Formats: sequence, C-alpha cells, structure tokens
Amino acid sequence: MSNQDLKIFPILPEALGLFVIPPEEHCHYKGIALKIINKPNDEYKSQNIGCSTLSHFCNQKNQNIFKNFPELKNLETTLCEFTLKYIRSIGFTCDEVIITDAWLNCGSANSSQAMHVHSNSLISGTYYINFVPDVHAPLSIFNDRLLQGTARHPFLELPIDQSVSTPYNQQQLRISIEESSVLLWKSHILHGWDNNQADNRISLSFNVMPKVCTDGYAYSFSVNR
Ligand SMILES: [Fe+2]
Repeated sequence: MSNQDLKIFPILPEALGLFVIPPEEHCHYKGIALKIINKPNDEYKSQNIGCSTLSHFCNQKNQNIFKNFPELKNLETTLCEFTLKYIRSIGFTCDEVIITDAWLNCGSANSSQAMHVHSNSLISGTYYINFVPDVHAPLSIFNDRLLQGTARHPFLELPIDQSVSTPYNQQQLRISIEESSVLLWKSHILHGWDNNQADNRISLSFNVMPKVCTDGYAYSFSVNR
C-alpha cells in the first residue's frame, strides 16, 4: 500500500515564545542571581523533590523572588512586558499580567528535572541566567501521546514504529537555548530536562496569570499576587 493517497496535516500548533534580555541588563541580573545563590538564606533555599542536586530559591507558596528580592523589580517588569507581547502576538487580548510565582533554579552536573507541568498558571517561562549550550541541558518539551507510564490520567497508546520518524512519534523536542534568552509557553505543556553535564545551570522560572481572567463576555475573576 503506498502513502500517495494519504496526506497528514499538522493542526493547532503550540506557540513557544523567545525573547532576549539585552547584554547590559543580563549582566546586572546575573550578578544579583549569583549573589542570591552563593549566599543563600536557608529560608529561601530548597532541594528539588526528585533530584537532590537541583536547588530552588523562593519557590515555596508564600515566596516569590521578585517579592523577596526587590532589586529584581525591573526584571519582573520586563518579563511582564514580554508575556503581554507573547499573548498579543498569538492573537489574544490582555491588558495586564501578574507573575504569581517566580524562583531561581541551580542545577549541578548530573542534575535533571523530571517531566512536569505548572498548575494554577496560564503561561510559564524560563529566563536562562547561566547557560553554556555545550554542557548545560536544553529544555525538552514532551510528546503527550507518549507518556511512557508516567501519565497522570488513564490513556491509550500504540507502539512506535522505530523505522519511521515523524513529528508525531518523537518522545520529546529539545529546544536549543542561549544564555540571556527567555522562553514562554502554555503552562500545561509537559516539559523538563536531563543529562545536564556541568554545575551552575542557573535559570529563573515564572508563572503568569492575566490580572483579569475573562472570556470577554460573561465569566471573569481577577488575580492578586
Ligand atoms: Fe517547569
């Protein structure tokens, strides 16, 4: 049977946003992040539940790196501007956004972050503060057709035909990253990273909500941090 009578159409693509922080600003923010990480206040530091060589700073429910370290205020403003641009560029309206959670991550060699999603958030992002592409693990976006037993809901799957490679049967898509870049994506996308080969993979993760969540007609609520 030939494939000449079959056409496959990619539908409803996801939007991954990429912005870059200008070099001078990036240098300033990197200096602040390194100070926070190198002289940690015990109250702000925690270890990742699944990986003891991955530390987080200000990721507890009553913490937010921008609230706890006001010297990063300008970065918060910039990330909100990026997110509004992202929302408008993909064809939606929003007047104001709030970063409801923001925290630093520092991974040592051999650290990883298991596949996960961000709950209670609409858009999530990561700012790559110290990142050497040859040795620090890229971000992976996982294919939700192929959850390999880690699914959070019952689901059906088919075995992969190893002789055929398509955009639909890949386990994951690795996103190449440059230091100072900011990636944005829908919070419910499965993501993570592994095979990190060097210390000090430093990033700032954040969750964003519209100040007013509404369909534009009937239903709405507003968000305060
Ligand atoms: Fe994440």
